[in-house]
Amino acid sequence: MILETKDLKKYFPVTKSFIERLFTREMKYVKAIDGVSIDVRKGEILSLVGESGSGKTTLGKLVLRLIDPTDGRIIFDGRDITYLKGEELRRLRRHMQIIYQDPYASLNPRMKIGESIKDPLIIHNIASDQEAYKMVLNMLEKVGLTPSEHFYGLYPRSLSGGQRQRVAIARAMITNPKFVVADEPVSMIDVSLRASILDLMLRFKHDLHLSYLFITHDLAVSKYISDRIAVMYLAKIVELGDVYSIFKKPLHPYTQALISAIPVPYPRREKKLSLSGEIPSGIDIPPGCRFHPRCPFKMNICSEEEPTLRRIEEGHYVACFLHQ
Ligand SMILES: Nc1ncnc2c1ncn2[C@@H]1O[C@H](COP(=O)(O)OP(=O)(O)OP(=O)(O)O)[C@@H](O)[C@H]1O
Ligand SMILES: [Mg+2]
Repeated sequence: MILETKDLKKYFPVTKSFIERLFTREMKYVKAIDGVSIDVRKGEILSLVGESGSGKTTLGKLVLRLIDPTDGRIIFDGRDITYLKGEELRRLRRHMQIIYQDPYASLNPRMKIGESIKDPLIIHNIASDQEAYKMVLNMLEKVGLTPSEHFYGLYPRSLSGGQRQRVAIARAMITNPKFVVADEPVSMIDVSLRASILDLMLRFKHDLHLSYLFITHDLAVSKYISDRIAVMYLAKIVELGDVYSIFKKPLHPYTQALISAIPVPYPRREKKLSLSGEIPSGIDIPPGCRFHPRCPFKMNICSEEEPTLRRIEEGHYVACFLHQ
């Protein structure tokens, strides 16, 4: 196991208006992550899928310790890092990296891309300036930006979106990390270039025996890249399993709806399961099963009790009363 979370929670306080403050002293919170226990194995890609607002980015930031948890634990490579601070946390950073959705925003526009990629090597004292230069050229070749000397001196603005994401990947990989969070890394990239970026990430997975937490709202992308998939709904994991079981036999009505929403070139005439309504806010989480107001199969118990994630088959877990 490279990463584990135990009942992890993140509640953001909501700022109240002056009037609200007069009438109630109770604090309000957005429950962005509300008790998540997951593990990422060494060398695997675990995808985190779910609609906008389900808490994916928050979970990614929590496990990298970019934000502080409200409760729960984070174990990285066998070590409890929940409360790690200062120099110790800084030293850990080279082993855990992040790739963002928007490569333009994540690169310094005034820095040559070679310098951007080199930066972490200098920050973490991994190599001397001269060694670092050679390592960067090598990395530029690996991510397909050749001739590497030419690309080294370019600025982000003269690259295409796909090339910029290759730079962001190079920058994340240069410190030889053990674990990478990729937050929607291809959603801003032209569809025709997506597969090549995903393949590049897969190559690093194999070469570096790397583990990814791969965040996406696109199930087709997660099917292509992952070993296992965790489905998130409103701050909780509702289903977890290997890619094959999730697609062959999705158990949670929410997962079934996400899968039927994937566009297919020649739709078979099967009844599609579609969702009504929008994901509620993390401030007013429905009682019982948080999915019940949108669930076509809801039973009485669903609004009264909250289902827990249970093992149905080897490696396949679901939180739903239909399966308990
Ligand atoms: N800094 C913050 N302060 C207050 N609320 C926040 C903060 N960050 C996130 N949230 C709230 O937490 C919830 C989860 O947000 P998050 O960004 O993790 O979702 P997401 O699944 O990544 O969505 P998307 O697919 O749109 O990126 C949302 O309701 C969001 O408004
Ligand atoms: Mg997000």
